[in-house]
Amino acid sequence: MSKLPPLLALAAFLVAGACASYEKSDTQQATTAAQVDFDFLPIASETLPRLLQLNDRIFSGAEPKVELAFAELQKLGIKTIIGVDGARPKVEWAAKYGMEYVHIPIGYDGIEAAQANAFARVVSQKPGPYYFHCHHGRHRGPAAAAIGFMADTQCGPEGGIAVLTKAQTSKNYPGLWRDVEAFVMPAASAKVDLPAIAKVSDFDGAMAKMDRAWDEAKLIQKAGWKVSAEHPDLDPQRTALILAQTFEDLNSITPRRYVNEQIFQEQMQIALTASSALTQALAVNNVSNADAAFEKVRKSCKSCHFEYRDQ
Ligand code: HEC
Repeated sequence: MSKLPPLLALAAFLVAGACASYEKSDTQQATTAAQVDFDFLPIASETLPRLLQLNDRIFSGAEPKVELAFAELQKLGIKTIIGVDGARPKVEWAAKYGMEYVHIPIGYDGIEAAQANAFARVVSQKPGPYYFHCHHGRHRGPAAAAIGFMADTQCGPEGGIAVLTKAQTSKNYPGLWRDVEAFVMPAASAKVDLPAIAKVSDFDGAMAKMDRAWDEAKLIQKAGWKVSAEHPDLDPQRTALILAQTFEDLNSITPRRYVNEQIFQEQMQIALTASSALTQALAVNNVSNADAAFEKVRKSCKSCHFEYRDQ
């Protein structure tokens, strides 16, 4: 870019914000070129953090956790929700608010071709508008939405990359960026599976559960390990116990591929010891020990994921 003459550089900058989408006429010939803008709209929401509108049919954001979130999705007109993390989708609430779920869990290390095909097809096979979500709405959800957006608008990779940029998807997940950039429309003959509830391995399911307990632990830590007025429903002891118990469960179902992995085993031991230390510290109200144990658990999540999950 730095080598371009100033005017060309400016032109390159300007076209980065839009793409031309060729709408098909009745005769199926590409006729009119419509401009698709990349000025995606963040929407403030109490129940759906990181809610982002990509166009009039495609939204991305965090998991709808409470019933009010489903009511909000209904108000946005959403008809199909696409969940891409390992937690079981709340299909009952979706149905209550007239929406359908499609569950395609993906890893942080990238999007497989069959999964990308499913994200591309869901926007033509299921009724829209669509809400793509992972747990926090920052990495995997926007990556899936980026593919849905490219399929819906016929924009090239610049459209998908613009979605990840706007959603602030982390560059620590290079596989997500790589696979969004490499996306090509599936062949008409490609078969896709769009289940409402996907089969998830016990280990992934337990990790997804852990992630939710960990969110609670973060809030409780911020409140000085006390029940806070802001989150009266969060009980420090109970959350710490769930964390410790979930690490015990995870350890007992370690997938074979990690059994002889030294870093995995080391970090699992640290997580087990530290989460158990956290419950003990809270039992005697020792805030500084609780902080120290919390920090050890946090580092174990990071180290283990860096090695085995994220790329
Ligand atoms: C000892 C290793 C290890 C530790 C410690 C660990 N994880 Fe994981 N985690 C993994 C691996 C490996 C995967 C990917 C599983 C796979 O793809 O097979 C994963 C997957 C996940 C996922 C994705 C699940 C999904 O939705 O598909 C989340 C979320 C997660 N971990 C959260 C956490 C949190 C939060 C912590 C700490 C409180 C933590 N993990 C601690 C190894 C670990």
